[in-house]
Amino acid sequence: MKKIIPAKRTENITYAVRDIVVLAQETAKSGKEMLYLNIGDPNLFDFEPPRKMIEAAYDAMLKNYNGYAPSSGIAEARDAIAKEAERKGINNVRDIFVTTGASEAIELALTALVNEGENVLTPTPGYPLYTAVASKLQAIENPYYLDEENGWQPDIEDIKSKINEKTKAIIIINPNNPTGSNASEETILQLIDLAVENNLVIFADEIYDKLLFDGNEHISIASLNSDAPVITFGGLSKNYMVPGWRIGWGIVSGNSEILDDYIEAINKMLRARLSASHPIQYAIAPALLGGDEHLGPAMEKLTRRRDMTVEMLNAIDGITCVKPEGAFYAFPRLHKVKDDMKFVAELIKATGVVIVPGSGFGQVPGTQHFRVVFLPQEEVLEKAYKAIADFHERYLENFQ
Ligand SMILES: Cc1ncc(COP(=O)(O)O)c(C=O)c1O
Repeated sequence: MKKIIPAKRTENITYAVRDIVVLAQETAKSGKEMLYLNIGDPNLFDFEPPRKMIEAAYDAMLKNYNGYAPSSGIAEARDAIAKEAERKGINNVRDIFVTTGASEAIELALTALVNEGENVLTPTPGYPLYTAVASKLQAIENPYYLDEENGWQPDIEDIKSKINEKTKAIIIINPNNPTGSNASEETILQLIDLAVENNLVIFADEIYDKLLFDGNEHISIASLNSDAPVITFGGLSKNYMVPGWRIGWGIVSGNSEILDDYIEAINKMLRARLSASHPIQYAIAPALLGGDEHLGPAMEKLTRRRDMTVEMLNAIDGITCVKPEGAFYAFPRLHKVKDDMKFVAELIKATGVVIVPGSGFGQVPGTQHFRVVFLPQEEVLEKAYKAIADFHERYLENFQ
């Protein structure tokens, strides 16, 4: 037989968060102690979901709710998500669907919208799934920049300059991964105006909406305009600390006349993949309607870890770090390093500290960054940041 040739559409698909693990695994084989600050998985550290969610999923399995679920999700879950939409101030809901993680909702919504050669505006830096899906659809990624000088707010002038006749959607990740920034009302209003003027669907990725520091308020994009076509993505992975359960959702809101055909296209795709996990969907209502008692202690820990992250990294000559307002990521800038990929590769080999190069999330050309996940315990973070500080100094002297 001849060699099997993979499809061209996979050529540009990268996912830096996991790709870096290959290098980390090689280093770990040498017996070096590894400090993982690369994956946004709370369960690898001292975070757990509320017990009632586990009981609800277990109970559903015992009741033999082990068959397929309805394609859009079970009624109890969709009702709870509708109440969640109301809490977020979204009042023109047209459809709700439950998916295998927010990832599947994002992929279905993009697939139902974008043709080959069309483009979607993606935040840069931003979560690499959007670029990967656009690549798979043979759509063109149209990156817009977040402004580091302005707390990583989306750069409205840059967005304006990037919209063209083939632009179908604008994605906003709020709070953002990898920067931890939280968009202001002023920025969001400008962004909605641009979307409406240019017939763009707004993809509002709000998967970290309950993880905000210092009493910062989260403004749901769809809540500011009930006519604009918005799909708000959410899920259990981050707010409820169960990323391995793979449960997320999409909430479609806006003027129904302009959305009807698009909603039907999404539903065709939902039916074709049967359903999301059935028994686990029974945990959605207890989670969303359950009072969120787990968040107080989690945010207390995360606030301490965020503070030491910002403090220790800003203390390094040549590194600056904008203070994250939400989520559990920081995106420090390397002012003196010429190639973040090389820096991170050498850092992993020399110290066992695993972080992700900024180029994996996109960045303004000529700038260098890395992403840290500050979920690990303080002792781990302290050790890691000290190792980064020492290595950074040696790297500048010896490697470039
Ligand atoms: C911004 C953003 N959106 C979506 C996802 C994927 O979420 P899920 O686990 O629900 O698929 C992630 C995961 O890290 C994320 O950071």
